[in-house]
Formats: sequence, structure tokens, C-alpha cells
Amino acid sequence: NEGALWGARFASGPSPALAELSRSTHFDWDLALYDIAGSHAHAKALAAAGYLTADEEQSMHEGLDELARGVTDGTLRPAASDEDVHGALEQALIGVVGAELGGKLRAGRSRNDQIATLVRMYLLDHSRTIARETLRLVDALVAQADAHPEAIMPGRTHLQHAQPVLLAHHLQAHAWPLVRDLERLRDWSARAAVSPYGGGALAGSTLGLDPQLVARELGLDRPAENSLDGTSSRDVVAEFAFITAMIGIDVSRFAEEIILWNTREFGFVTLDDGYSTGSSIMPQKKNPDIAELARGKAGRLIGNLSGLLATLKALPLAYNRDLQEDKEPVFDSVRTLETVLPAFAGMVATMRFHTDRMAALAPQGFSLATDVAEWLVKRGVPFRDAHEISGHLVRVCEENGLELHEVSDAQLAGVSERLTPEVREVLSVEGSVASRTGVGGTAPVRVAEQRAELVQRVQDA
Ligand code: ARG
Repeated sequence: NEGALWGARFASGPSPALAELSRSTHFDWDLALYDIAGSHAHAKALAAAGYLTADEEQSMHEGLDELARGVTDGTLRPAASDEDVHGALEQALIGVVGAELGGKLRAGRSRNDQIATLVRMYLLDHSRTIARETLRLVDALVAQADAHPEAIMPGRTHLQHAQPVLLAHHLQAHAWPLVRDLERLRDWSARAAVSPYGGGALAGSTLGLDPQLVARELGLDRPAENSLDGTSSRDVVAEFAFITAMIGIDVSRFAEEIILWNTREFGFVTLDDGYSTGSSIMPQKKNPDIAELARGKAGRLIGNLSGLLATLKALPLAYNRDLQEDKEPVFDSVRTLETVLPAFAGMVATMRFHTDRMAALAPQGFSLATDVAEWLVKRGVPFRDAHEISGHLVRVCEENGLELHEVSDAQLAGVSERLTPEVREVLSVEGSVASRTGVGGTAPVRVAEQRAELVQRVQDA
């Protein structure tokens, strides 16, 4: 088994079936540049502890640089006989610097502490890309809110007309969960920036290598406190998978609304041609495929998280090969979000809102009935009675095929003597929205304040 990282104690090489099962280069090659960065840091630690001369260290760094160039330009690829990225790169290094020097690099480290470190480095890098793309979506939401400061739409609960709200309020309501996702990524990164390097296979190293040096070189905050935990925990990976799933779910909830808004029945939005798709048979179709794919892929992100949690749930300490199953799902989550978010943000940024249609629907479905009840409360009517009176008024409207603002003074008085014609002051959607001045409410003044807070929170995240 020429070139493998192990084999001396085996009488025979691995069976082809084992090699096939064990091979991970088709996905862990994505970690090659991180592996090389780890090797640079490890070479420094070996030299600092006296295991490499200055010349050897120098040749080692040069050799590793050459590998990095090969990885980047695609000329260095794993061979079919390589088990994993670590073995493939050691073989390549030996090819460049010779077996004598190349064979020294592995001292004091194990693939177990390496992989646990590399996956953190990979995720930390991609967390920055995902944060940037999430931020673009938040920006698109805020820009659309800014472009429609006065538009009023039907606010819904149970998908039924409930109370009118500002479109800007609704759009910002989709931005807030994403802001919390950005904060989650930031909080997570403090836990992720820990280096298991130096933990060895499980119990630590005898060689006196400096793990601080390695952590610092890799841009991580500090070495792991416990070598067993460092090499075998993957909660940091699972937490990252949760955050990606949560972003997927937050996007998917908005996607579902866009799909509804884009129907003829709603008619609230038109999607830009560059962000919608056609049908192979129906020439007239223009479909919201980006929103549907975003909604569909949220399921996939949840699946990746669930699968990973299931892998972890019964693993004894310390490293077990099951842990290799962390990478494909979490790499898939990264790729999924990195393709969904740019398309989704583009769709949101270019979406046209039909504010007339929204405004026409906003007062329908007796959405001002709560305003009537609260108007009565302000005049000393107990809410319980006010609720009854307003509900009675709704029934009269329904029986006569009227909306609330269409009833006559006589009909108002017929429901209750407390319903004087002055109640009409709250029977406009503009009046209703403007009067919701409580904290976090939909009144334009509150929505403007909220926008400022939102932007501040994004800046802090
Ligand atoms: N490929 C493994 C993983 O992803 C790392 C290699 C550890 N292999 C081993 N036999 N201990 O977790």
C-alpha cells in the first residue's frame, strides 16, 4: 500500500471494497488549502521545538507553497489510491521535498486533530460569505421598504385579513430574523475560532509543540482546552448547520409569501424577468421559481442538520470514523445558501409592488373592527362591550354586503348609541395605521424608528 499513511502492521493492503468505502477525497479535497495552512503552522511549531532545522523549515514552507499553487490551479489532484486529503497532500509533499523531509511533517499531529481544525477554518471562511449574502438580502428588504414608505397592505393572521399595516413594516418584519441570523453567525464564530491542532489522535502530544503558535498562525483565538473534546466534538459544526437551516427557513417563509403575492388572485407583486422563469409548454407562464427553490431547499438544509445530529447522538469519546459524516451535509448547506441567497436578494431587489391593489384590499374583510372597538374603549366603554358592539357592526355589514366605512349613521346608531358618526375618523386604513403608535407598531413614525434600529443592529452584527 505504497503512499498510504498507515500499513506497516498489516500483512495485506486494504480490500477494494474497504478502499471504496473509506475514500473521502471527493469531498474533503475542498479542505486542501486549509490542510496546507495547517501544515505551514505545524512546520513552524516543529521548528520552534527543534524538530526541523531552519533550512528544513524553509524547504518545507516552499514545498507547501508549491502544493498550494497546484491545488489552486488544479494541477494537483488526489489520486484514486489516496484515502483522504491528508494522505494525498503528504504524498504530494514527499514528491516535492523528498521522503526524508516530507516524512517529518506528520510528527505530533493526527488526522483527527487536523480534520477537527480544518472544518472550523472552512466554516469560519464560509460564514463570512454567508453573512455578506444575508446582509445583501437585508439591504434589499430595507431598500424596498424605503421605496414604499406610505404603502398600506392587508396585515394577516391565519392568512385572513386582520389589520392594515404598512408594507414597510411587513418587509422589515422579514429583515429582523435575518439580522438575528447575522448575530447568530457572529456569536457562533467566537465558539468556532478554537484550534484542536495539537490534540493528536485524542490524548495530546509528547513532543512539546506550541499549540498557541499553531492557533495564532491559523487565525484562531486559542487551542482547545481538552484534546478529547477538541478532536471528537462537532457541536460547532452542528450549530453552524442549524444557523444555515434557520436562514433557509427565514428565507422560505418570505418565499412563500412572494409566491402568494405573485398570483393573479393577490396581484401584489410582479417579478422581474431576470428573476422569473417560463414554462416549456405554456407560452404565457412566468413562474416564481427562485422563491420555490428557496422554499424547497430549506427542507434540504433542515435534512442536513437532522442527519448530522443523528450521526452525533450516540458517539462515545473520542474520535470515531462516523465523524467523517459531518462534512458532506455541512458543505452542502454552505453551497446551498451561497447559491440561494444571491438569487433571492436579486429577486427581492427588483420586485415591483402594486401598492394600489394592496391599498384597495387593505380595508376589506372588516380589518378596522379592532379600531372601532379601541375607539369605544377610549370613550370609556369596557373592552368586552366594545368587542361586542364592533362584532355586531361587522354582522350588520356582512348582512348588508357593506364594508365598515360604508355603513350609514342610522345603521351605526342601530347597533349602539355609542357608535356616533365620529367613529368614521378611525374607519380609514391611513388613520388606523397612523394610530398604532405603540412600541414596535405599524405607525409610520414607529416604522421609521425601527428602520434606524434595524440598520444599527446590522452594523453591530
Ligand atoms: N477523514 C476523517 C474525517 O473526516 C479524518 C481522518 C481520520 N481518520 C482516521 N482513521 N482516524 O473525520
